[in-house]
Amino acid sequence: MHLDDSWNISEEGFPVQGGAEEKLRFLLNYAVLAPSGHNTQPWLFRLNGDEVELYADRTRGLAVVDPEDRALTISCGAALFYLRTALRHFGYAGEVETFPDPEEPDLLARVRLGREQEATEEEQRLFRAIPERHSNRQAFEDRQVPGRLLFALQAAAWEEGGWLHLAEDAETKHKIADLISEGDRIQHADKRFRRELAARMHSNRSRSRDGVPGYAFGFGEIMSAAGPLVVRTFDMGGGQAAKDRQLAEGSPVLAVLGTEDDTPASWLAAGQALGRVLLRAQTEGVSASFLNQPIEVPELRPQLRDVIGRTGFPQLLLRMGYGPEVRPTPRRTVKEVLIN
Ligand SMILES: Cc1cc2nc3c(=O)[nH]c(=O)nc-3n(C[C@H](O)[C@H](O)[C@H](O)COP(=O)(O)O)c2cc1C
Repeated sequence: MHLDDSWNISEEGFPVQGGAEEKLRFLLNYAVLAPSGHNTQPWLFRLNGDEVELYADRTRGLAVVDPEDRALTISCGAALFYLRTALRHFGYAGEVETFPDPEEPDLLARVRLGREQEATEEEQRLFRAIPERHSNRQAFEDRQVPGRLLFALQAAAWEEGGWLHLAEDAETKHKIADLISEGDRIQHADKRFRRELAARMHSNRSRSRDGVPGYAFGFGEIMSAAGPLVVRTFDMGGGQAAKDRQLAEGSPVLAVLGTEDDTPASWLAAGQALGRVLLRAQTEGVSASFLNQPIEVPELRPQLRDVIGRTGFPQLLLRMGYGPEVRPTPRRTVKEVLIN
């Protein structure tokens, strides 16, 4: 199988005449295109008659950067939103029950097709954005994102139970950039962090269907092959801090996605909010990438909250804007994420 095949999924393949199980199985082709921390794809699905269960795959957790599986649960939430979006596109209302079994914390959701219901124009646009959306780590153009779209992104986060705080003014962006660069220095000084990151960085020639290929960081062949060794061996926190500061301050918008609580349920909601925000942005050609350092480093998280003056819990920090086209990253196939 070619690595890009996951992204070439054709709607024609939808088994119109098939049963619920066959349909749900097909829809998982869209769920697996969701973003995830270090492209770990920490999800598993189990088809069970007319429903599909979403499980957290904690063996794919990142013990250093995400010891509580917070980002892991957010990633699963994003996959859940992608699945819901695909359900809507193919004409089903979708029925979702989150954390259906208190005895089984890894079971994050149960999803059924639900009744037939035609998708709205907005839902169709979100669906069409799925194969177009990629994290964009390149510098963004010096071009404002329209206020109308920013308002829609805030509404998108709200609809899924989160909030989105936007910073467009130079002073707030500067303060947030300070926290990002401090986070870079703290993280890179920790060799366990560097080892965990290096283990998920791959050369551009790798056949691996998870982890992040060098090209996603803008690396050429040689740098992509040497990158993991360099990251693992040297503390380049200073250089990373300078680069991220420039990217953050040069982006038209920094966006903090947050929730009122900091529980597995709010992480799953944050993931669905992330999915909706990223796809909504993509419908208008706006890309995003992540600068989560001040949320991942525990002592910086309350400082970020103070800078933006919000109650609740920052979950993700994004920069948004118009960037050059970037390539998709690999995904595992549906077969690989199904449990029998
Ligand atoms: C919860 C979460 C946390 C992430 N954190 C980072 C991050 O700190 N730095 C980064 O460059 N990308 C981060 N990403 C982006 C992933 O690396 C990216 O989604 C993954 O490699 C798949 O690529 P794609 O988004 O282009 O499909 C994060 C994504 C998610 C969902």
